[in-house]
Amino acid sequence: MSQGKWWQNVVMYQIYPRSFQDSNGDGIGDIPGIISRLDYLQKLGIGGIWLSPVYQSPNDDNGYDISDYEAIMPEFGTMADMDELIAEAKKRNIRIIMDLVVNHTSDEHKWFAAARQSRDNPYHDYYVWRDGKGDGDIPNDLQSTFGGSAWTYEPAVGQYYLHLFSKKQPDLNWQNDKVRHEIYDMMNFWINKGIGGFRMDVIDLIGKEPDKMITGNGPQLHTYLQEMNQATFGGKDLMTVGETWGATPAIAKQYSDPARHELSMVFQFEHVGLDQQPDGEKWDLKPLSVPALKQVLSKWQTALGDQGWNSLFWNNHDLPRIVSRWGDDGQYHDQSAKMFAILLHMMKGTPYIYQGEEIGMTNYPITSVDEINDIESIQMYHARLKAGYTKEEILRSINAKGRDNARTPMQWDTTANAGFTTGTPWLHVNPNYVRYNVQANLANPHSIFATYQRLIQLRQNNDLVVWGDYALVPDTADNVFAYYRTYQGERWLIVANVAAEDNVFELPDAVDEHIIGNYDDQDVKTGQIELRPFEAFVVKVR
Ligand code: GLC
Ligand code: CA
Repeated sequence: MSQGKWWQNVVMYQIYPRSFQDSNGDGIGDIPGIISRLDYLQKLGIGGIWLSPVYQSPNDDNGYDISDYEAIMPEFGTMADMDELIAEAKKRNIRIIMDLVVNHTSDEHKWFAAARQSRDNPYHDYYVWRDGKGDGDIPNDLQSTFGGSAWTYEPAVGQYYLHLFSKKQPDLNWQNDKVRHEIYDMMNFWINKGIGGFRMDVIDLIGKEPDKMITGNGPQLHTYLQEMNQATFGGKDLMTVGETWGATPAIAKQYSDPARHELSMVFQFEHVGLDQQPDGEKWDLKPLSVPALKQVLSKWQTALGDQGWNSLFWNNHDLPRIVSRWGDDGQYHDQSAKMFAILLHMMKGTPYIYQGEEIGMTNYPITSVDEINDIESIQMYHARLKAGYTKEEILRSINAKGRDNARTPMQWDTTANAGFTTGTPWLHVNPNYVRYNVQANLANPHSIFATYQRLIQLRQNNDLVVWGDYALVPDTADNVFAYYRTYQGERWLIVANVAAEDNVFELPDAVDEHIIGNYDDQDVKTGQIELRPFEAFVVKVR
């Protein structure tokens, strides 16, 4: 590592604990299971794990509804297991990034249990309460992300509480000093355990002003983050990444400009919205336009300049699998999975791999609502049925965008349940595990895993990948995405055919060296190149 912060030089890996590795046969992934797979992650070469929530939770939203921030969910293990995970990861140069879910708690958190008892309870003001307007009417029209009103009536206090997600996820009142300081104390509890930082769940909502219908990017948001930075991770060698659905490049600079002392970086979601109808929800499908993808990602690559830092990702536990989404999970499965890896990992920023992406895991097609676990998909299903959509239409949306696509168990080998569990898995295992699994990838030097591993090594060994300037190659075929990275006189050209059809690319330069590619027989020299389906390569050019 030559310069910059550690988190600018590494590749991160997200673990969704429930689906990663079960160690005791109850069908649910757990912390001892993760520990048993650290050698695998070390072999991949990652520098940090973003761990989706492992705290105590009634699992209304699979751990994103926390009932005790300083206790581990018993299904996942104990605090001793957690301490061991942090220590064992550290031995392998891997830091643990905790998921910080502080826009809301579970309704089973002791603060909310007290808050809902009476208006004079000292905890009442930890949450956001409003009187109904007139005749038992809701305070206003704010909607929950999971559908329906964001307000639920509590008879014991005669008021409504706000929940921007499910009604079991009441929003904390960030305007209350005490709330903020309880959270900072809790963060310090985790920092003192030696973690590497935090991923901050829907952090752009904490500055909300519900009476003005403001949810994201509220006026106090950055003030709170600066206060948090000072009270907790500021001045320490920790990484923070905010989940910010509403970020534009200008907003992302506010979060990640080092001079402002807020966060290391944010997740922006502009590219992820490109296959939905402009005025619709994510369920309202539209094919991806590759020119739009080029435009959006290039904008983010250049707009942050030195005042910010990008995160790079295709996948997480809320998004469908990239190989199924914009690639081809049939005939060109391996080629398209590798192409998306190369396209993203040669960009500037910190890349995030979501578990299973590195072995080409695919979406899991469902045929009935009974196969769904995810609260978001279930609520949408019933809401859209009521609104007159057909079952077929709704299932098509869920198969394209539902969150369970990413949540099926990790595919380790060809034994029963993909080696994830000896019991009954909490969510179905994708039957294609016999083909797509870790074991098969590790046995094949040309596997998708090998491509990710090599991309990580390229980042480790070449400052150009971390620090080089980015420039899109203009005027290529619509579906060809090509760009340069340039650093200290050296220049790499990255070319990707984001299509199942051939495309021609005119090589503008003379090639010095072939660095990586996704077809075995690439002979890239000069002039016109016939790119095959999803073909991608990186060359050093003159
Ligand atoms: C974030 C999480 C998602 C969760 C929501 C509410 O978007 O990534 O899984 O449902 O916040 O916490
Ligand atoms: Ca288990």
